[in-house]
Amino acid sequence: MNNLSTLAVARNSFLNQKQSLALSVSSFENWRQYIYENCGIYFQDNKKYLLESRLQKRIAFLGLESFDHYLDHLKYSTNSSSEKKYLFEAITINETFFFRNQPQLDVLVNTVMPELIAEKKKSGKNKIRIWSAASSSGEEPYSVAIVIWDLIKPRFPNIEFEIVGTDISSAVLDTAKNGVYKEYSIRNAPAYYLKKYFKQNAAGFEILPQIKNMVSFRLLNLYDTMAMKMMMNFDIIYCANVLIYFNADSKIKVVNSLYNSLSKGGYLFIGYSETLHGISKAFKLISFPKTIGYKKE
Ligand SMILES: C[S@@+](CC[C@H](N)C(=O)[O-])C[C@H]1O[C@@H](n2cnc3c(N)ncnc32)[C@H](O)[C@@H]1O
Repeated sequence: MNNLSTLAVARNSFLNQKQSLALSVSSFENWRQYIYENCGIYFQDNKKYLLESRLQKRIAFLGLESFDHYLDHLKYSTNSSSEKKYLFEAITINETFFFRNQPQLDVLVNTVMPELIAEKKKSGKNKIRIWSAASSSGEEPYSVAIVIWDLIKPRFPNIEFEIVGTDISSAVLDTAKNGVYKEYSIRNAPAYYLKKYFKQNAAGFEILPQIKNMVSFRLLNLYDTMAMKMMMNFDIIYCANVLIYFNADSKIKVVNSLYNSLSKGGYLFIGYSETLHGISKAFKLISFPKTIGYKKE
C-alpha cells in the first residue's frame, strides 16, 4: 500500500470511529434546546437517533471528540455563525417536488389571483408579491411561477409578479438558483408543463429562463424575528410542510410573523396535513375546493 492509501485508510477508520459516537440523553437535551432557540425546530424524544446520525458526519469531519464539543464549538468558537449554516443543512428535511399541492395551485389561478388583482386595480396598484417561506430547492415557487406564466399572465398582461423563495439551508437554495432537477422532483409535474417549461439535458430537467427569472431566492430563518420584519407587504405566502417540525410555541411565533408580513386581504397557505387550529385566531379560514386558505382581513 502506498503512503496515500495508508492515509486514506487511517482517515476512514477515524471517520468510522467518530461516526459511532453516541448522543447521551443529557447532551440530547442541550442540543434540542440549542436548535430550538436558533431555528424553532423541536426534536421530539423519538427523534434522538435522527439527530444523532445527522450530526455524526459533521463532528467527524471537524475532527471533534463528542457531541458536547460540537455544541461548544457552535456556541463559542469565532466562526460559530458560519458553522450554523452546516448545522441547519444537517438537521433540516428538504423533501419537496413540483406540483406538490395541485388544489392550492388551482385555487390560486381560479379564485385567489383574480380576487387579488381586482383589489389591486381598485387601489391603482399593479404588483402581486408572493413568498414561498420554506422553499427548499425551489420546486414550490417555480410551480407557482409556471401556472402564473401559463394561466394568469395572458389574462392580466398589465400585472407584475414578484416571487421570492427563502429557506434556512443555503445548500437547497443553491439547487433552487441552479434550476436543474432530477426525475424525482418532476415526478408529479403535468406532462404539458414538463414539455413546455423544462429542457432535458445530461444534468436533468432544467427550468426555462422565463420561469427561472420570475423567482428570486435568499437565505432566511423563519425564527429570526428581526429578519422576518424585513419581509413585508406580501399578497400570498406559502409556508408548507415546515411548521410540522416546530413545537406549538415556535409555530405561534412564526405564524404571527407571517401574519405581519401579509398585506390586508392577503392569503397564507400551509401544507395538506397542517392546521393553524390552536396556533392563531388572527386569520379568517376560507374553504376552497379541496383545500383551505387563511386570509388576513
Ligand atoms: C419539507 S421542506 C418543504 C418545502 C416546500 N415548502 C414544500 O412544501 O414542498 C421544509 C423546508 O423548511 C426549511 N426550514 C426548516 N426550518 C426553517 C426555518 N427556521 N426557517 C426557514 N426555513 C426552514 C428546511 O430547510 C426545508 O427546506
